[in-house]
Amino acid sequence: MERTTITVRDDGSLRASGPVDVVDATGARWPLEEGKPVFLCRCGHSASKPFCDGSHNRESFRSAPRAEGEPGA
Ligand code: FES
Repeated sequence: MERTTITVRDDGSLRASGPVDVVDATGARWPLEEGKPVFLCRCGHSASKPFCDGSHNRESFRSAPRAEGEPGA
């Protein structure tokens, strides 16, 4: 089974690759192109939330976490 990978991009979005659906709070799906990665906003400035629109560059968003320690710790 193919896995979904979410990459936390330095100073930018979350890149989801592999089989992925993005749904809203009601469960409705955004139509996505099969096989293409999805870029989700994590800076809070996108006008196209939950998707990244590049606003993190204009806002000089800075975050470069590394996979160290326990999640949420
Ligand atoms: S991460 Fe790109 S607009 Fe927020």
